[in-house]
Order: sequence, then C-alpha cells, then structure tokens
Amino acid sequence: MTKPYNRLEDLYQRDLVFDTAQGKTLPLERILKRTVKFYPEESDPFIFDIVEIGAGNGEFASQLAQEQPDSKILALEIGKERFDSIVRKIDRLQLKNLTAGFGDARPVLFNRLSKDSVSHFYILFPDPWPKNKHRHLRLMQQPLVDVLIQKLNVGGKITFISDVKDYSEWTAKLLSQSPLLSNDFSPQTMTQELPQLVSTYFKRRWEAMGRQFWHVRFTKNVSK
Ligand SMILES: C[S@@+](CC[C@H](N)C(=O)[O-])C[C@H]1O[C@@H](n2cnc3c(N)ncnc32)[C@H](O)[C@@H]1O
Repeated sequence: MTKPYNRLEDLYQRDLVFDTAQGKTLPLERILKRTVKFYPEESDPFIFDIVEIGAGNGEFASQLAQEQPDSKILALEIGKERFDSIVRKIDRLQLKNLTAGFGDARPVLFNRLSKDSVSHFYILFPDPWPKNKHRHLRLMQQPLVDVLIQKLNVGGKITFISDVKDYSEWTAKLLSQSPLLSNDFSPQTMTQELPQLVSTYFKRRWEAMGRQFWHVRFTKNVSK
C-alpha cells in the first residue's frame, strides 16, 4: 500500500506518481512495469521521430502523419475508447507512419525509446489538475521531464500546451532547470500564440468555451 505523505517534496523524492488507470498515486517503479499494446503491432526498430503523450482521439497525430509522411509518429493514450479512435483513424486514412500505443505512456518513454532519438514530444492539453493540492498528480514531473530530455535528439523539441496557465508555468519551470534546453519563446516564458499548430479535440472544446492557451516550447541544444 502507498505510504501517506505529508509534503509534496516527500512525494517527489519517493518518485510517487499518479496512476490514471487506478486513480491513485503509486511508485513510478510499479508503473514502469506495465505493458503497453501497440497498433499496428510493434516491429523493429522501435524508433520514432515524433511522440505525442496523451493523444486523445488522435486528431493531432493523424493530421501530423498526413502532413509529414516521412516522419514516424507514436501516439500514446491510456483511455481505451480514445485509443480505439486512433486505431480507426490509422485504418481509415491508411496511415503507415502512425503507431498507437494503448496504456500508460511512461513505460514507453522510460524503457522503450532510445536516447537521443526523438525530434519532437507533444503534450497537448494534458489533464490539468488545476488545484494546488492536486499538482502532484500532474503528468509533468521531474523524473518524466528528465527522461524526455534524455530521449530527445539535439535540435529536438518539447511542445506543451495547456488552458491552465499555472500548469504551463509549472512545466516551463521544470524544463528551464535543465542546462541542456533553451526556451524557444525567450525572453518570454511562454506564448499564447502558436498559429502553425493544428487543432485537437480538446483545443476546439476549450476554444468554444472562450478559454485561452499557454504554449511552452523548449529545444535541446546539447547531448549528455
Ligand atoms: C485532456 S485529454 C487531451 C487529449 C488530446 N491531447 C487533445 O488535446 O484532444 C488528456 C489525455 O491524456 C490521456 N492520459 C492521461 N494520462 C496519461 C498517461 N499516463 N499515459 C497516456 N495517456 C494519458 C488521457 O486519457 C486523455 O486522453
């Protein structure tokens, strides 16, 4: 059973992270043992240019796959219905360069991707956990950020967008602590405009409600 914790700092030190599937915090180590199912079934080499984490119904990943037929794209999604929706898009649009992964993204990010191999990670409108007391449940935590940086190639980028300003600030702060990264929007921390980015289901949903978006983008300049 997960031990109770008193301070958020204790939580990070023990690498406890939120498990979307069970709705509770678990040691990261346990989550990393989970298996992820791929469609189409995985084939060697397991190398992807672009990885979307929490891909929802695959609207963004499938658009990217059509726009960039030479890029290999991986869309990771833990929700079964949403994963099925990505699979239907792969079949209907005959997207040979898009693979969908069903399960927690973290085992794939930590264990399967190779160092210096990914050109772009996208995290678009992740579950926001806007309340202060729930911040520790957010996907973007130091261990995950460290792994994303390690798996990026030099010149590779991390793009993060949220409609919750505090989550974008939180992510920008985590990323800005790495000496390997630079902020694409410097001297700003983040921007509200990123016109070239195609739409996602949640972006349209929040747009219709008049919400604003905060875009964070960092580039890896040095390998380690
Ligand atoms: C608010 S939705 C945004 C979906 C999509 N990016 C969009 O903008 O339409 C967040 C998505 O992240 C997925 N998700 C949350 N935690 C995840 C995890 N650990 N691994 C993979 N997917 C995750 C959820 O199931 C959900 O589909």
